[in-house]
Amino acid sequence: MPALVLLGAQWGDEGKGKATDLLGGSVDYVVRYQGGNNAGHTVVVGDQKYALHLLPSGILSPGCTPVIGNGVVVDPAVLLSELSGLNERGVDTSKLLISGNAHLITPYNITVDKVTERFLGKRKIGTTGRGIGPTYADKINRVGIRVQDLYDESILHQKVEAALDVKNQLLTKLYNRRAIEAGQVVEELLGYAEQIKGYVADTTLILNNALDDDKVVLFEGGQGTLLDIDHGTYPFVTSSNPTAGGACTGAGVGPTKISRVIGILKAYTTRVGAGPFPTELFDKDGEALRTIGGERGVTTGRDRRCGWFDAVIARYATRVNGLTDFFLTKLDVLTGWEQIPVCVAYEIDGKRVEELPYSQTDFHHAKPVYEMLPGWSEDITKAKSFSDLPKNAQAYVKALEEMSGAPISAIGVGPGRDETIEINSFLS
Ligand code: IMP
Repeated sequence: MPALVLLGAQWGDEGKGKATDLLGGSVDYVVRYQGGNNAGHTVVVGDQKYALHLLPSGILSPGCTPVIGNGVVVDPAVLLSELSGLNERGVDTSKLLISGNAHLITPYNITVDKVTERFLGKRKIGTTGRGIGPTYADKINRVGIRVQDLYDESILHQKVEAALDVKNQLLTKLYNRRAIEAGQVVEELLGYAEQIKGYVADTTLILNNALDDDKVVLFEGGQGTLLDIDHGTYPFVTSSNPTAGGACTGAGVGPTKISRVIGILKAYTTRVGAGPFPTELFDKDGEALRTIGGERGVTTGRDRRCGWFDAVIARYATRVNGLTDFFLTKLDVLTGWEQIPVCVAYEIDGKRVEELPYSQTDFHHAKPVYEMLPGWSEDITKAKSFSDLPKNAQAYVKALEEMSGAPISAIGVGPGRDETIEINSFLS
C-alpha cells in the first residue's frame, strides 16, 4: 500500500514536476489534491519541455493514471486547452480521472479575483488572478459549482443564480462593474460538459481500491507549505491546504494509508507574490540566483523573489507535514559561489529564535542569522551518485539535512529527467 505525498517545503516552485515525473514510471496513480491552474510545473522529457498548470505531471508517464481529486478547483477551459495542447504533441491523456466533487472555477470567480486585487491596491496578495480564492470561498460558503453539476442543467442553473445573487450586488454596487448574467454562465459551462464527461469518476473509490490492491499512489501538492491557508504566511497564501493533511481531505484517503511524505526543497529559496521572506536578496546574488535558476513563474511569468536557503522554514515544513524525506532540487544553481550563506535561525527583537514564530508580527521582523558554508566551482550536472559531488557540495547537502530534520533522499543536479542523484529509493 505505498501511498506517497510529494509537496513543496517552501513557497512553491521547488521543482515538484521533476520529482513527480522521476517517480512516474513506477507509480500507478498521480493525484492532485488541492489548488488549480495557479500551479506551474515544468517537466523536461528528452528535448521536450512541458509546462503544466492544472494537470498532474504524471500525465506524461505512460502507464500512470492521472487523477484530479475533489480538493482541486478546475477551470474547464484551461483543462480542455491543456489536454488538447498535450494531444497535439502526441501525449495520450485518455486515462485522466476527475472527481465529480471537484469545484469548478467559473468566469465570475476569475472576475472577482481580479477586481478584489485591484480594490486592495497596495494591500493586494499578488494572486495569480485565476479565480482560485473566490472559488474556494464559494465552496466554503456552500454556493460552489461542482463538476457533477454540469450533468443536471436545472440544478446548475439554480446554483449559478444563487452564487451570482450576492456577487452581482458587489460587482455593480462596490466595484462599479456590470452584473454577470446567470444564463450566459450556464450556457458556457454546459458547453464543456460533454467534453469532460468521459473523465468524471468516483475517484475516492478508485484510489482506495487501488491502495487495497497494493498499487503505488502518489499525491502531488501544488504551491508549498508556506502558502498553506492554515500553516503558511497568512494572508499571503493560497486558499487551500498544500500540506500533507490536504492530501487526505483533497483525495478522500485516510491518514492511516499514507506511507511516506516527501518535501521538495530548493537548495535556496524563492517566492512569488507579496508577503514576508526573511532571506530575500535585493543585490547581485539575488539577481544571479534568478538568472541561473531560471526563476520566472511558469504560470504568471512574474520574476520570482530569490534568497538564500532558510533552515528555519525547512524545519517547520518537517514539523507540519510529518516529512519522512526531502528531495533537494537545483543544487547545480549554487555552483560558482565561493561561500554560500545559509540561514540557521532568526534574530527577532535582539533574540535568537530557532523555530518559525507563530506570530506574524515576529515573522515580519525576523532577521536571518547566517552561517557561511564553503562553495564549489566544479560542474555537478553529470554527478550520478552522492560521492560524485565535490566535497563542499556534499558538506552543503549534509549540513542542510542536519538542520532540516529529515533525510535528503534525492538531489536534483540539473533540469533534465536523468539529472538526479537518488540516495534512498522513495518506493522501498
Ligand atoms: P492564488 O493561489 O492565485 O490565490 O495566489 C495566492 C498566492 O500564492 C500568491 O502569492 C501567488 O503568487 C502564490 N502562488 C499560487 N500558486 C503558486 C505556485 O504554484 N507557486 C508559487 N506561488 C504560487
